[in-house]
Amino acid sequence: MNATIKLENVKHFPVLLEEITSIISPLYGGTFIDCTFGQGGYSKKILENINNKVFAIDRDNSSIKIINQFKKKYQSRFQFKNIKFSEILNLNINQSTKDIKAIIFDLGYSTTQIKDPNKGLSFNSKGKLNMQMGLNNISAHDLINKLSEKELTKIFKVFGEENSSKFISKRIIEFRKNKNIKTEDLVNIIDIVKKKKFFRIHNSTKVFQALRIIVNNEISELIYGLINSFKLLPVGGMLVIVTFHSIEDKIVKFFLKNYSENKNLSRYLPSRIEKKKLIKLIDKKPIIPSKKELKLNPASRSAKLRYGIKLNNHSDFSEFEKKFGYLLEVEELIKKI
Ligand SMILES: C[S@@+](CC[C@H](N)C(=O)[O-])C[C@H]1O[C@@H](n2cnc3c(N)ncnc32)[C@H](O)[C@@H]1O
Repeated sequence: MNATIKLENVKHFPVLLEEITSIISPLYGGTFIDCTFGQGGYSKKILENINNKVFAIDRDNSSIKIINQFKKKYQSRFQFKNIKFSEILNLNINQSTKDIKAIIFDLGYSTTQIKDPNKGLSFNSKGKLNMQMGLNNISAHDLINKLSEKELTKIFKVFGEENSSKFISKRIIEFRKNKNIKTEDLVNIIDIVKKKKFFRIHNSTKVFQALRIIVNNEISELIYGLINSFKLLPVGGMLVIVTFHSIEDKIVKFFLKNYSENKNLSRYLPSRIEKKKLIKLIDKKPIIPSKKELKLNPASRSAKLRYGIKLNNHSDFSEFEKKFGYLLEVEELIKKI
């Protein structure tokens, strides 16, 4: 049994809030799209300026209490839609898209989600494997109990960079011959395979990361979230993204850097094609949390903030899709269930 946690009392610290505010505040006086509403930390800060409007999105509807408080307090300045951010083009924004000043992503999970025993995102959870953030088709239970040894190995290796992928998958297949694998069983299997006592990272960290990524289609969500946000954003608008793990950061870094250059370095394009600069990159290096923030919120340690300003319209992002085709392919394994 899970200890009962009052999720309303779980506090989520918005990551890099001061840094984000200083980046977007010169654009104040328009609409901001908060693609990852969570507990509303970013939206609240933006709405403090009465000339701003926020259109918020989240695939998880469980912050409904906060969403309703926001609607009451900020009235027509705040709207919320329970959709995935890859579907951003389906938003019926009531005003001209020219009014959109910035589209903001704070990837990953809020503390409230991690602590929610029903979501089973943490290795401290018990019972049926889940890991769904919201609006999902499959759960970690389906994956662990149905995919083959080879497929599980691939998922753990590619999305978790787990060195013991093969041995863990082998044990999973042996275990599930007798009974379905629950969260605590998976943690035990990994502990047995890894033998070692964990020091800085928990033995299950990498496998759990891999499962969360695939259950929530995090790769295609991010790739199409970025492409579609870029399409929706007017020229002069800003894309701001906070990432939490190396795969996310690799995708965001490539998108911003590759489309901010006009030299054709890509092996996916014929060399004679001169690229149009689509993005103005202000900082090449990511912004990371200050010592003060790390002390207050150690969970922010892996956060990286990158941002850019849209310079030109563009619709063909096949080069970007091809670059990360190997990740999209692994994500496709869920279609086998
Ligand atoms: C780190 S939290 C955001 C916290 C928020 N910035 C705050 O200050 O409270 C990330 C949120 O993004 C949401 N999310 C993750 N992937 C999503 C997706 N593909 N589409 C929509 N929401 C998503 C999660 O449900 C979660 O609520």
